Amino acid sequence: MSFDLPTRFRRLRRTEALRDLVRETVVTRNDLVLPLFVNEAISEPVEVASMPGVFNWPESSMEEQVKRAWDNGIKAVILFGVTEHKDASGSDSLKDDGLMARMLRRARAAVPGMVVIADNCFCEYTDHGHCGVLKNGDVDQSGVVDNDATLANLQQQAVVAAAAGADLVAPSGMMDGMVEAMREALDEHGFDQVGIMAYASKFASSFYGPFRDAVDSTFKGNRRTYQMDYANGREAIAEALQDEIEGADILMVKPGLAYLDVLARLRDATDKPLAVYQVSGEYSMIKHAAAAGAIDEKAIVLETLTAFKRAGSDLILTYYANEAAHWL
Ligand code: PBG
Repeated sequence: MSFDLPTRFRRLRRTEALRDLVRETVVTRNDLVLPLFVNEAISEPVEVASMPGVFNWPESSMEEQVKRAWDNGIKAVILFGVTEHKDASGSDSLKDDGLMARMLRRARAAVPGMVVIADNCFCEYTDHGHCGVLKNGDVDQSGVVDNDATLANLQQQAVVAAAAGADLVAPSGMMDGMVEAMREALDEHGFDQVGIMAYASKFASSFYGPFRDAVDSTFKGNRRTYQMDYANGREAIAEALQDEIEGADILMVKPGLAYLDVLARLRDATDKPLAVYQVSGEYSMIKHAAAAGAIDEKAIVLETLTAFKRAGSDLILTYYANEAAHWL
């Protein structure tokens, strides 16, 4: 029995080797960026309760963690500080001897070849947990972040990060004009070779829940006056293209899996390298479902990472970076 079919797609799926030959998308270790949480108040690693397998690391283990990632074939780390020194403006992150600068210097020194990325935001360093200074120093939980006052601080923070050895600064606070402001400050201080990876389209998302647990956030409100409404796709492209105009070197979409449409549209709209962030909630969902025996962890992770690349991402920030490096 044989029908006269014009095309038979199954011909190229018949054997493993044929499938390998026609595969369109391949994820490699070169694509992975490992986020690391560095906690100045601990001397032993502390597992993040909502993210099994992810740890807060003491400052003293930075070298070891960066080396471990490098030995796994990972080329980039992005650092998040967990500080005891929070205040209204997040001033610890503006100091040369503050946690942000210290952890960047340690990572830089640990492996000279590693791409070290600074997450440039204030939410981990402010006592109110917002991503910048509040209007009129207002801490009444209304949470209206003063855009331009925050830009001035971001300029300082970017210069501190660059001086401490960051290869890339990654503004994640979703302030208008943040890329332009940081570019200007970096250039003025002689850091014209330090790149900007903009969290260009970052949505106000419930997928960040476990991250706030990881950074011990005191944050109570929401970030909807600066992060994007997750209902908006066109606006996400406009935001990202604006960051490109302002001088961003890499554009990020965040979170990942629920925003593949944005990633794919942005791929068509720009020739800049794109990054995607598989965020804490995405990690936790996979971990917990796998622990419950509902899914095959390795298979699911590789499928999600491949989906990010297929949709157009070049870099993938994922808490699975170390494990994925072994699986790839
Ligand atoms: C800081 C920042 C956040 C994340 C990365 N940088 C938290 C937030 O915006 O609330 C989230 C990362 C994750 O969930 O894995 N602005």
